[in-house]
Amino acid sequence: MKKLMLILSVLSSVFASHAVQAADPEAAKRGEALFMQNQCFSCHGTQGQGGERNAGPKIFPNPTPFVAFELQLRTPRNLMPRYSVQVVNDAQLKDLYAYVENMQPSPNAAQIPLLQQAMR
Ligand code: HEC
Repeated sequence: MKKLMLILSVLSSVFASHAVQAADPEAAKRGEALFMQNQCFSCHGTQGQGGERNAGPKIFPNPTPFVAFELQLRTPRNLMPRYSVQVVNDAQLKDLYAYVENMQPSPNAAQIPLLQQAMR
């Protein structure tokens, strides 16, 4: 029971910090610059849609929780380059996450005029 309470309190603090990040547009703006400077876009796309020929997976929509994001940058599971504290510090990591979770989905094909014509 104690363990369950601990897990619940950790989870609620994770979601609470998540909500604070999402509400900070300045953090997301700084994160966007970091996403470009650190070449994240080259493997994950500028809208998190994933890279060509599986360079990197889709990371938006449905971004991973912050803890998983941090783990992946600090100790990547497989092919992704590692981003140590010297390269991306903890504050920058939070800004990057704020950007990723606030990315805008690309428009639906039906909303793109040129494609609308093609689909007729
Ligand atoms: C050279 C290509 C490359 C670059 C640059 C790169 N990634 Fe990745 N990323 C990957 C690959 C490949 C994976 C799949 C897991 C692995 O190989 O470690 C991944 C996985 C991820 C995941 C986990 C996705 C999931 O569904 O679990 C996140 C989040 C992520 N990257 C964010 C970033 C961020 C933020 C940056 C920039 C600071 C970045 N990546 C830079 C290739 C890249």
